[in-house]
Amino acid sequence: MENILIEKQDNLAIVTINRPTKLNALNKATIEELHNAFNDLNNDSSTKVIILTGSGEKAFVAGADISEFAHFSVSEGEQLAAKGQELLFDFVQNLPTPVIAAVNGFALGGGLELAMSCHFRIASTNAKMGLPEVTLGVIPGYGGTQRLAQLIGKGRAMELIMTANMIDAETAKSYGLVNHVVPQEELLDLAKSIATRISNNSSVAIAKAIESINANYEDGVNGFQTEIKNFGASFGTEDFKEGTTAFLEKRKAIFTGK
Ligand code: COA
Repeated sequence: MENILIEKQDNLAIVTINRPTKLNALNKATIEELHNAFNDLNNDSSTKVIILTGSGEKAFVAGADISEFAHFSVSEGEQLAAKGQELLFDFVQNLPTPVIAAVNGFALGGGLELAMSCHFRIASTNAKMGLPEVTLGVIPGYGGTQRLAQLIGKGRAMELIMTANMIDAETAKSYGLVNHVVPQEELLDLAKSIATRISNNSSVAIAKAIESINANYEDGVNGFQTEIKNFGASFGTEDFKEGTTAFLEKRKAIFTGK
């Protein structure tokens, strides 16, 4: 991997986008490497939670790599968005393993779109977020028009996308775009402590919860029906037997994720 770093710590994996001289801008190679990393970590049963962050102190990701698409045609532009959404943004959103975005600086354009694809976000006080695509004569193409409106409401999304304004971390928190804001030096520790709490719970139940929550945002899918199906399926897992037995025996459950 040339553009990302992967570090395993017990049940957690930290994926760091590592192009600091380009403010971690997402080029094609980085998108492919991220896809492969998320796929491999999801298939590795020892990884319970993934934390995604950017290298350096300045940026999470400052957007899609503008130098790569500046000369694209209409069909190349459409292909760029379609491929990126399939390989990375939709892929992360639907990953059964939880992914937390630790937004450590600028999250602009594709960077904010990537953070929004993660299951939830925390940010450092210096973080700045926005979708500035219209300043380039283009629109967000990695799901930003959809996910920003889902997360902060249609009116706020309209204003942010039309003005291309950046918001700071506290404003993002007040909008519900990020869950917590801490000084930069505490960001990874907070991400790890949340991840550790998640990793103590049943990973098979968490995967079903992710699928059920996401179902609300999918066309033609009834989220309540998905929840009923996944709730029922939980009763057939070893983790359900262990969780309920441990509760009744007044001990801590030891989950296998099966
Ligand atoms: N694509 C490609 N390169 C990018 C980039 C992007 N989205 N964002 C930053 N970079 C590169 C810059 O070109 C520069 O490279 P260079 O040193 O080879 O010239 C390097 O990263 C540092 O960026 P710079 O602009 O010098 O830093 P800054 O502190 O002055 O400004 C930003 C920071 C984030 C405000 C500014 O980089 C920016 O506006 N980036 C583009 C944001 C954007 O429009 N994203 C949406 C893309 S769809």
